[in-house]
This record gives sequence, C-alpha cells and structure tokens, in this order.
Amino acid sequence: MQTRDSDAGDLLRLVEGAFAGERDPWANAANAAALVFESLPNLTWAGFYFLRGGDLVVGPFQGRVACVRIALGAGVCGTAAAKRETLIVPDVHAFQGHIACDAASNAEIVVPLMSGSKLIGVLDLDSPTVGRFTVDDATLLEALGEKIVAACDWRLAGIDGF
Ligand code: SME
Repeated sequence: MQTRDSDAGDLLRLVEGAFAGERDPWANAANAAALVFESLPNLTWAGFYFLRGGDLVVGPFQGRVACVRIALGAGVCGTAAAKRETLIVPDVHAFQGHIACDAASNAEIVVPLMSGSKLIGVLDLDSPTVGRFTVDDATLLEALGEKIVAACDWRLAGIDGF
C-alpha cells in the first residue's frame, strides 16, 4: 500500500505539532507512536524499542502487548539496529530469526534511530498484510525518526551512551 505525498507531509506536520518544543523522550515517543498508528493504514503495531542496558527494550507503542527485550542482532528489530539500516520485511515468516510477538503480523518495517554515530533505538511497525511496506514508507519513517531524534533530550531517558 502506497503512502501519498500529502499523507506523508501531514504525518510529519502532526508529529512536529505534537512535539511543540517538548524535549521529553517518553512524551514525544508516545505521541509519535499514536500518530503513526492513527495515520498509516493497515497496521497492527507501531512503536519504539530503545537501547537500554545493552538490549532493545520496548518503549511507547500502540497495538497489542509486545516482547519486552530484544538483543542486538536478534529478530528484525535487533538486526536493523545492529546494521544501523532500515529493514523492510515483506513477509516476516520468511525472515530467519523473526520474533513473533503477534500472530496477526505478517509484514514489518524497522527504522534505526541514530544520534550521529550513537544508536538510540528503533521505530518498528507491523502489518497483517504481506508486502505492506514500501520504499516510500521507509523514506517517511526515516524522516519521522530524524525529527524525534532532534526533538528530544535523550539524557532524560536512560539510554545507553547518553
Ligand atoms: N517482530 C519483531 C519484534 C517486535 S514486535 O514486532 C513488536 C522482531 O522480529 O524484531
């Protein structure tokens, strides 16, 4: 499913509006997760994992109960984080090591959040539809990731290296 340019612009504007000068990472991540979940069609989960104590630990999200702790290199989230690159997985059942949190999820996209060379965590979206996520979605979510990285004071969040 394609995201139209206008929808993408709307989401980025809504996220900026929700941050509105607020620097708290948990507050901004919570509102960002809610806006992504409301704005993009056909999702089962949208949210964050943050690097805390050497693992990715679940942060603010919308959707069903999720796995709490993911090692770097494990699953789609840990692989994207370890490689520091966005992963679009059309069919999670074909991804070796995929961590199944919700049986209804069939496709996933994970965008690492970086502050310079420091890994902060990942933005993770799941969908019930195989092939749901496109390169346009990756571009949009990377832009959103850059906005949240710039908007927050990460020293307030207990994230490794800050
Ligand atoms: N499927 C992910 C785990 C996180 S949930 O999808 C919310 C993974 O393989 O890393």
